[in-house]
Parts: sequence; C-alpha cells; structure tokens
Amino acid sequence: MSLESTGPYAAAYARSLEDPDGFWGDAATAIDWDVEPTTVLDGSDAPYYRWFTGGRLNTCWNALDRHVEAGLGERVALIYDSPVTGTVDTYTYARLRDEVAAFAGGLRSLGVEAGDRVVLYMPMVPQAVIAMLATARLGAVHSVVFGGFAPHELAIRIDDATPKVVVSASCGIEPGRVVEYKPMLDRALELATHEPSASVVLQRPQAAAAMGEKDVDWDELVARSEPAECVSVAATDPLYVLYTSGTTGKPKGIVRDNGGHAVALAWTMENVYGVGPGEVFWAASDVGWVVGHSYIVYAPLLVGATTVLYEGKPVGTPDAGAFWRVIADHGVKALFTAPTAFRAIKKEDSTASLRAGHDLSSLATLFLAGERLDPDTYHWATDILGIPVVDNWWQTETGWPIAANPRGLEPMPIKPGSPTVAMPGYDVQVLDENGKPVGPGEEGNICIKLPLPPGTLPTLWNDDHRYVDSYLSVFNGYYTTGDGGSIDADGYVFVMGRTDDVINVAGHRLSTGSMEAVVATHPMVAECAVIGVHDQLKGQLPRAFVVLKTGADIDPEQLQREIVKSVRDEIGPVAAFKSVVVVPALPKTRSGKILRRTMRGIADGRPEAPPSTIEDIGVLDVLRPLLQQTD
Ligand code: COA
Ligand code: AMP
Repeated sequence: MSLESTGPYAAAYARSLEDPDGFWGDAATAIDWDVEPTTVLDGSDAPYYRWFTGGRLNTCWNALDRHVEAGLGERVALIYDSPVTGTVDTYTYARLRDEVAAFAGGLRSLGVEAGDRVVLYMPMVPQAVIAMLATARLGAVHSVVFGGFAPHELAIRIDDATPKVVVSASCGIEPGRVVEYKPMLDRALELATHEPSASVVLQRPQAAAAMGEKDVDWDELVARSEPAECVSVAATDPLYVLYTSGTTGKPKGIVRDNGGHAVALAWTMENVYGVGPGEVFWAASDVGWVVGHSYIVYAPLLVGATTVLYEGKPVGTPDAGAFWRVIADHGVKALFTAPTAFRAIKKEDSTASLRAGHDLSSLATLFLAGERLDPDTYHWATDILGIPVVDNWWQTETGWPIAANPRGLEPMPIKPGSPTVAMPGYDVQVLDENGKPVGPGEEGNICIKLPLPPGTLPTLWNDDHRYVDSYLSVFNGYYTTGDGGSIDADGYVFVMGRTDDVINVAGHRLSTGSMEAVVATHPMVAECAVIGVHDQLKGQLPRAFVVLKTGADIDPEQLQREIVKSVRDEIGPVAAFKSVVVVPALPKTRSGKILRRTMRGIADGRPEAPPSTIEDIGVLDVLRPLLQQTD
C-alpha cells in the first residue's frame, strides 16, 4: 500500500492537502451552524492558522440538542458503568440534554458567561461529562484537571486558567481506597493566587465533603436554577483548555476551538473509528486526558453514537475480566484504550480465560493509543480477540489521530509497530537535525508541515509566544511533534518515542523536568536527573539519579522515602514515582550540562555515541545498568 494508491484513503488524503477548503468544507456539513463560516482555512494571521472563521455554532447543541430535536431523544447517549460503586446507569439523549441544561443554568446563576473559564476536578462520574457539556452550552471554556494530580498542580492550572467557578466532587475511587477530592481542592485554592467565586461540589455517598462558605452543593444548585439554552459562539472561540506536560515544570494550556474541533471529531468517529449513529463506543480512559475529551465525550455524541463512561480499572475491580463483561453487557462495537491496560490484563490473566461466558461478538475493532504499542501486546490482543487491533498516534495538542488506520474510510493492512498512515490534513514528514527530509525508513524528528488540520491547537492559553517557541521555531514552517521515528516506503509511520524530557507512564504523559524540580528541593541533593526507564506494565517509570551534597549522610532508603513523598505531594500519585538512586556523578559536558539525552538513549535501548564534549566517559559505565534495570 503506498500513498500513490488510488483507494478512498489516498483520495481523501491527497484532497485534504491540495484542497483543504473543499475537503474540510464538505466535512463541515456534518455540523449544525448558527451562521455558516465565510472562510474554511484562514491563514491571514499565519502561523496562527484558524478554521471556519465567520462561522457560529454551539458544540453542546451539536452533541445533544440536535439529536433530540431530530426525534432521537430516547436513544442512549451515555452508559455509566461503575464496578467500583456497583452502579450501571443509562442516559438517553433527552435525559442528558436536560441534565446538562439544568447544570448550565446553575453555572449561569453563579455568574458563568461565554468566555469564562470553569475548572473541573472530577472522578469518572456522569456529572463530569455533564459539567463539561454545560460549560460548552454557555459558550464558556472548561479546563479539566486529572484527579491523580496533587493540589499544587491543580493550583498552577487554576492560576493559569483563572476560572470563575471550580467544579469537583467529594471523592474519587481508586482500587482499594476512596480518594477524598475536596480537601485537595481546598488546599489547591489556598495555594492559588486566583480566587474563583464558587466551588460546586458533588457529594458522593462514599465520602461526605465538608462545605465552606464559597462551596455550593451540586444538587441544591440544580434544584434552584432554571435550565439554560445554548449560547452561540464563534467557531474560533475556545471550547476548552487542557493542560499537558511540557519539558518544564509549567504545563502547557492546549487550546481547542469550537468549530474545527466539532468538524474534525465528527469526521474521525465515522472514518477512523468506524462508529456511527446508535453504535456503542467505549474509550476506557479518563475525562482528565485528551482521549477522554475527544472520545468519551465529544466525538461519540457529535455523531449520535452511545458512549460508555467506565469508572474503574481493567484489573482488580472485580477482576481482570471487567473489560470483557463491559463489552458484552453493552454491545460495544469499538474499544479504545492504552496498551498498558491490556498489559495489566495479560499480567493477571495471561490466557484471557476470564473472557469465558462473555459474548464479545459485537466488538469489531480494538483501538490502542497513548503510548507506543509494543509488539508483544499487539500480538497478544490480536490472538485473544481475533479482530483488528489498531494502533493510532496522536497527542493532546492535536486532539485526534495524526496517524491511524482509517477503519471506516478504508481499512488498510496492519504493520505491527506502526500506527499506519497520516490522516487527512496532516502533512507528516521526518526531518533530520538540519530540517532536511530524510529518506524512507530513516529515523529523525517527526514533524507536520503547516497548517495543521482543524481541531488541532491554534495556540497555547494566554501564551502565543510559547506556542511558537515550543512547536514552530525548531524547523521553519513545521510543527514539531516531539516524537522521533520514521516513515517507510509505503507511507507507514513508525513512532519510536519522545525526543525531549516528556515520558509516558501507563499512557499518562508526564514531565521529568517537573519531577526534577521537586527532587532538587531535598536538602541533601546537590543535583539530579529524572529519566524514564523501561517498565513491563506501565511502559516507562520515572527514576531519579541523584548526587548528594558533599558530606551529606543519609540512609538511601530514607532518602528515597522522603523524595517519593515530596513528588507524590507536589505532583501527585499519577507520577508513579518510586525510585531514587544515589550515584557518585552525572554525565556532563565539559561546560557542565547534564547529558540527559545520552541517558535517555541508554534507557530506551537506543544508545547514541555520547558527545565528544563529555567530561568523563567513565560515569556512563556506572549508570548504564541502573538505566537499563527494570523493577
Ligand atoms: N484520582 C486519584 N488517584 C489516582 C487517579 C485518580 N483519578 N488515577 C490514578 N491515581 C493514582 C493511583 O491510585 C495510583 O496510586 P498508588 O501509587 O497509591 O497506587 C497512582 O495514581 C498511579 O496510577 P496508575 O498509573 O493508573 O497505576 P495503577 O497501578 O493504579 O493502574 C493501569 C495501572 C495500567 C491499570 C491503569 O493506569 C490503566 O488502566 N491505564 C490505562 C488506561 C488509561 O487511563 N489511559 C490513559 C490515556 S488513553
Ligand atoms: P498525550 O498528549 O498525553 O496524548 O501524549 C502524547 C504522546 O504519547 C505522544 O507525543 C507520543 O510520545 C505518545 N503516543 C501517543 N500515542 C502513541 C502511539 N500510538 N505510538 C507511540 N507513541 C504514542
């Protein structure tokens, strides 16, 4: 299969690059516009490209109301399946629309208007989806913060997004423990400089939250408010800001607009994931991540499909058969999760014997993303399910796949190790250090020639300069993905891993830079480097290499305990930070720069020759086994 082939994929791809106005203009007919766009691709302020300028719409209307108006109010929009609370609840489109309108009325009564921000810190409950859609209904901007982040991280996001209101819940439920969210929210609000005018709190029966002066009970708020109608916004107005880890401690606020997002996601649901109206799609992720935003909430609802909201993990609650039960109970047509979830199942039930008794005949495709799909996991999943297992590669920044196998448009042959081919609108190229395209199969920096397609980030929240500096300034005219890899002669993309200080732990994107900042605050640490080392289950795990101050005397286990506690307190349990190794020295250049890239290469199993400027080559010999050793 080559990009010169003549199937529907090749035609769509070629048209998207040669005639973006025609391609995306046609795709835009799937969306209800209050005012039709006057321009499809607007390059008037390049490199800040905009899509569908002049257009007006409401994303919540497109996700909910229009289906109800079309007489489909009784179709199931969302199935909440929560083995951790023993609950299954079903929301029709009419019920979800009504509950969203009611909560939107509540937010409005707290002063939320179009353009205001609302920060959500929520577990996987339907109210998280309701709060997102209610914010969108008002034309306001949501910013969801993943529940595994600590108060300090939440505070950073509150200060950057400056929300009028914060929405949270009394608790989340993790395997074997109830995690109280409200004390963490209160702590974050103490740490933050910005003061939201209110916090709405959903009380869950598993833990009661103590309510303060500015706290508002979810149920009481809804009971006293009038439902709100959809507010029309410009296609280019922001729908949400989602913070993601960059190479520094300061997260990047990825902006998603309304128009391009709706058009692109509706296109992908049918063409990439092969799921249409009335069919059941399950993205086993979390609303705190981009996969949750795009494929738990927006895309399935935009096309009138049914989405599954699953509260739990693939293993442990009640057992490693949980996924099979959910697929069978709800007739799931396509499951989307991270490879690590399948590694977790395999670890506990290596023959997938717990499938027995569950009818999996509805399942047509398994989609995996969020981290590299290792060959073992690919083969295991393919063998046990006997259906296509489809890798897809993307990032918070893009909001939808850069490379995928377009199952709805034209299923392509699968090459294990590759997320298949570039999706429409993405002119993917691999460049060498000098910005020159490399040949087929050669590794380099994976970049996307500008403009990026609709639905991708137009900029960073309140930080146009950082957007250009981080993504557009390395290679002129290109967006730098931060991933390294190659493209073969058939146009298949191979993604090998990050070329920067971002790591991927259990499908969660984390910054080693922010962990280093915490490790360095320990009074006995002179200097440190945090590197992602290979882990069988989670793909990567952070490991800190620390050099102690002269004369420092501390038991290494106590040091590890203290540093682990600080990272957990400052960043959160999601960092999965557990390992601290004391070393005599870190590899450095003669000018004193720590050679993190050299260390990363060794840890990734793709060592490069260390630079000739290395101060002491012997240091690497000490580190090599520690970088390669897995727990
Ligand atoms: N709220 C509070 N704490 C959370 C949390 C949340 N929403 N999410 C994770 N945590 C905590 C966990 O309880 C755990 O704490 P611990 O160190 O005290 O045990 C820690 O953060 C690490 O969590 P996680 O990385 O999820 O590890 P795990 O061992 O609990 O589960 C997997 C491992 C692989 C089963 C799980 O990560 C998973 O299902 N991942 C695949 C799906 C996915 O989420 N993908 C994301 C992008 S598609
Ligand atoms: P996130 O922004 O959290 O979605 O993380 C994006 C990063 O995860 C990418 O830059 C990649 O490094 C990695 N990633 C996501 N999907 C894949 C995939 N299918 N194959 C390889 N790496 C992936």
